[in-house]
Amino acid sequence: MIPTELIRKKREGEELQPDELKFLVNGYVNDDIPDYQMAAFLMAVYFQGMSEAEMNEFTRLMLHSGTVIDLSFIPGVKVDKHSTGGVGDKVSIILAPLVAACGVPVPMISGRGLGHTGGTLDKLESIPGFRTDLDIDRYKKIIEKIGLVMIGQTKSIAPADKKLYALRDVTATVECIPLIAGSIMSKKLAEGIDALVLDVKTGSGAFMREKDRAVELAQALIGIGEAFGKRTIGFITDMNQPLGNAVGNWIEVEECIRCLKGESVPDLMEVTYRLAGAMLYLGEKAGSIEEGEKTARKKIGSGAAYGKFIELVREQGGDISFIENPSKYEKADVQEDVYLETEGYVRTIDNYNIGLAGLVSGAGRKKIVDSVDFTAGLIVHKKIGDSVNSREPVATVYGKDREGVQDAVRRVRKAYRLSNNEVDAPRCIYGMATKDGYTDYENGT
Ligand code: URA
Repeated sequence: MIPTELIRKKREGEELQPDELKFLVNGYVNDDIPDYQMAAFLMAVYFQGMSEAEMNEFTRLMLHSGTVIDLSFIPGVKVDKHSTGGVGDKVSIILAPLVAACGVPVPMISGRGLGHTGGTLDKLESIPGFRTDLDIDRYKKIIEKIGLVMIGQTKSIAPADKKLYALRDVTATVECIPLIAGSIMSKKLAEGIDALVLDVKTGSGAFMREKDRAVELAQALIGIGEAFGKRTIGFITDMNQPLGNAVGNWIEVEECIRCLKGESVPDLMEVTYRLAGAMLYLGEKAGSIEEGEKTARKKIGSGAAYGKFIELVREQGGDISFIENPSKYEKADVQEDVYLETEGYVRTIDNYNIGLAGLVSGAGRKKIVDSVDFTAGLIVHKKIGDSVNSREPVATVYGKDREGVQDAVRRVRKAYRLSNNEVDAPRCIYGMATKDGYTDYENGT
């Protein structure tokens, strides 16, 4: 086959056949297709999209470019959750032990922070000693022993996606629904799961700012999951403000510990319980999502979810004394409250800038090689609808680097827009998508 012919075909909006996609993807992995031709193909996909058949085949090729983990020796329906990423999105750290405590095995392979968003791996690694770089044998042993494991992508999981993602990152082809869907699902399908719950975020701090695009992405992800025989449910959730109050690494883990011990952070726990309900439903431990939510609430109340988190930390090498006594964690060297000069009610928060404030405080990376300051980040005290005056801080920023903290303070200040009138808090969950369609909770469609 001739690469330029296939690029031209896609550029003209034609559908590629499985052997043609195989030639391109496998050729790229084996270095037979150079970066410049693959980049041209990706840009053609960016403009022309992919049919459902192309998307499934593209995912299959990336999935089978590496190891597909077999967890069939573990009894029960194995269920994972994937979030498209956000600011203060710490749900996995509460959800995974919670669902495992309810008897559904949770094999989870997570990522690091991307752009302005945080990543579960960086948060978990802020726990002294906690290892996420475990090999697949250890991954299997841990999930068999405690029904839960949380690691990072290994070299052998979907290597084609790894190479393609790096190319997309530098050729402005990341924000493309078929490419995102294939990339996410190739990694999730490699984990050994039987079913998947998706948390597709929308709003100013999400990659899919518009709700319609988030629904479109959810449907593409669900289509692929179901085509591979994995029951998949997706929720469209709000990312117009941080989820919970903490944005960072250790400070987010500390918020999770409080939630696992029963403290209610309302928006964070509403999303967590809904996702847990869906995971328990798909994991056949509840007859409905609502019933699953009730079970999950009881497992927080009984301390079982917290107990499962302790097991996870211990099993993956973490020092549980920091979980039992978070106040012994190293403190940030610099701490600064953020005040606004005006009064009113919080109308909007530019959550992208809050994410960037977290990043510049030291909690994220400006370059791949940067290390993360685990003590850095911010606590948001005022959320949409809250009243604000010039005497109460809207947020507190933490970090080691004074300049970074001051940059973050400026970004937080700029992110807030106030109103003179009372403002309603936004919905946390906008709707649910399944293979049968999308139900919007706002307008009942
Ligand atoms: N996350 C992924 O894993 N892949 C994408 O393409 C975008 C977000």
